[in-house]
Amino acid sequence: MSPLRKPIIVGNWKLNKTIKEAINLVTQLKRLLADMDVVDMVVCPPFTAISDLSEVLMESNIRLGAQDLYWEEKGAFTGEVSGSLLKEAGAEFVVIGHSERRQFFHETNETVNKKTKAALRNGLCPITCVGELLAERESGKTFQVIENQLKGSFAGFSPAEMKQVIVAYEPVWAIGTGKVASPAQAQEAHAFIRRKLAETFGQETANGLRIQYGGSVKADNIADLMREADIDGALVGGASLDAQSFADIVRNAALVAVK
Ligand code: PGA
Repeated sequence: MSPLRKPIIVGNWKLNKTIKEAINLVTQLKRLLADMDVVDMVVCPPFTAISDLSEVLMESNIRLGAQDLYWEEKGAFTGEVSGSLLKEAGAEFVVIGHSERRQFFHETNETVNKKTKAALRNGLCPITCVGELLAERESGKTFQVIENQLKGSFAGFSPAEMKQVIVAYEPVWAIGTGKVASPAQAQEAHAFIRRKLAETFGQETANGLRIQYGGSVKADNIADLMREADIDGALVGGASLDAQSFADIVRNAALVAVK
């Protein structure tokens, strides 16, 4: 991480937690992290819990995000949720193009692009995900894949728009597998992402942009990741479902941040 950028730790709860469980979890997080001000903290519950959690998190340092959105504002799109509805429910962030959405729900760079634009239009901060499959890494295509994802996801963006985006690098082989990328592997990908974005959007934009790492982040590996120059935080799945483990991740990230 760099002092230019405030670290951000985001919990992606995926398809977990009833409303009651969600309230219980953030109530604990509020207590465990009440004094935390050097790291930005966000939780992304299922859609059904957003509105209730926004009440529980009122005036708290923990903020709320959603896990997806649709790019149209309203109309005949059964099952979809728009940026303005998320904003109204209390979300400030939205994860877009997570690899599970790309793998299981046919998300493409084009849909990720439309969704990221829709998030910005509605004043939500997009956390737009990129990352290679194991087969792509093993066949030496990692950087080509990431470059294509960046090009497609942010096609037509202005530097001013790009400044409002968070990018998450999530190697698919590290998600939910317990196989974390080594700090050096993650740093290599993060530096590549920043360099590519600098080529398109300018060095100043790229220097200010936060790039999170995601994939089997835990309390005991976050500090080594955060010591890398281009890693500005984490998108945490499994380990965000338990209050103590998420709080420990935030605290260990903060220790690196204040050094
Ligand atoms: P994980 O998930 O931490 O459970 O590996 C990360 C993610 O999918 O964002």
